[in-house]
Amino acid sequence: MNTVLVGAQWGDEGKGKVIDFLTEEADVVVRFQGGSNAGHTVVVGDRKYVLHLVPSGILHDAKHCVIGNGVVMDPFDLMRELEQVESWGFDLKGRFHISERCHMVMQWHRALDKAEEAARAEDRKIGTTGRGIGPAYAAKVGRYGMRVGDILKSDFLEIVRAQVIEANRALRALGALELDPDEMVRLYTPMVPALMPYVTDTIQFLHDKLDKGASLLFEGAQATMLDIDFGTYPFVTSSNPTAGGACTGSGVSPRAIDRIIGVLKLYTTRVGEGPFPTELNDEDGEMLRQRGGEFGATTGRPRRCGWFDAVIARYAQRVNGIDYWAMTKLDVLDTFPVVKICTGYRRKDGFVYTTFPADLDILKWCEPVYEEMPGWQSTTSHITKYEDLPANAKAYINRILELVGGKLGVLSVGPARETTLRINI
Ligand code: GDP
Ligand code: IMO
Ligand code: MG
Repeated sequence: MNTVLVGAQWGDEGKGKVIDFLTEEADVVVRFQGGSNAGHTVVVGDRKYVLHLVPSGILHDAKHCVIGNGVVMDPFDLMRELEQVESWGFDLKGRFHISERCHMVMQWHRALDKAEEAARAEDRKIGTTGRGIGPAYAAKVGRYGMRVGDILKSDFLEIVRAQVIEANRALRALGALELDPDEMVRLYTPMVPALMPYVTDTIQFLHDKLDKGASLLFEGAQATMLDIDFGTYPFVTSSNPTAGGACTGSGVSPRAIDRIIGVLKLYTTRVGEGPFPTELNDEDGEMLRQRGGEFGATTGRPRRCGWFDAVIARYAQRVNGIDYWAMTKLDVLDTFPVVKICTGYRRKDGFVYTTFPADLDILKWCEPVYEEMPGWQSTTSHITKYEDLPANAKAYINRILELVGGKLGVLSVGPARETTLRINI
């Protein structure tokens, strides 16, 4: 059974937690896009683990973890994270693999990311994580990127030097500090022996696993509304976090995918700039932030919070082909007397959009249309069986399913591993 798991909103839906849960029945967990802009949290007992590049499946001994060709990987971030994973007591030997086709995020990509963001006009700022993601993907599609396999070539350090000199021209034009080519060459010299043990032909590896009947689990980072094609462009990331990205980012055919799971937070959050129709700048928004612990796992920024948006969830269901939902953070809504679901965006002249417009200016003239439902005002975090949920919580979930399509597969009622209900997958 090969499963693709994607985020359905603007990220931070709880993908890490659900991947950890599904890894039990998988043999290999594969990251296929994004980079260390991701922050995936897994809580086991009283320990909290945050993973950025390494698949969240690494917390299960004996499972293989792959960084596929679609990822952009900063070798320094990766080395730090691998050391951390080992310090947590997990053995990496023979079970962690990086594609030789994976592009690297270099120091100058990070510098360019920050300089480009600083140079953007106030209303054009993206609020990037500053991890060099945009410039690394720009280098990839511009066909001057550096791939992991390049570290094995004799001219690797010469290319580093040439690229720093080139990047300095752009940094200078942006009024940013330039990088010292000699220092960069010194910095990257030890990268070769450090990365070597993990570099693999992951396409071959994954296909050999498939031939032997292994189960692959594809771990999406970011989410549908941050997708470079389907998200709120230009306020997006630079990859395809949607389901199709799992194939292009790993070398596994769409024919091999058996099911697609979308992770859906039962309210909405966004970190960074860009439109967010159901955003709440009031006490309810603050309540969601505090109860949900909505502070970025990568940058620590407070997340913007709002009611559940069925327009984007329906859109996510369609563009990803979501079979099952993993709904998360029900417990965060436990105290609200009323919960709201956005079913459309109403223009001043009364016209209601029920699909997400490509032209973001349209949203400036729209108000969300809400359906209100009574809250359940009781604790759900101890519940282990779907039947035991309060009737109003079930009604809320069922109304969402009615509006967005797909089936409920997993329900999460707390951050810890045990607070996960398997429904019908
Ligand atoms: P990801 O990027 O999609 O993996 O999500 P993050 O890890 O960035 O953010 C999700 C946060 O919510 C983390 O702090 C999780 O520990 C937490 N979390 C996940 N599921 C639940 C849940 O059902 N209830 C509560 N209260 N917290 C949850
Ligand atoms: P996970 O996997 C939430 C947002 C940034 C910014 C935009 C572009 O934890 O859900 P980038 O650094 O990618 O160029 O930033 O995308 N962003 C995320 N928001 N969760 C994430 O990952 C994100 N990764 C990027 O805040 O608005
Ligand atoms: Mg996150």
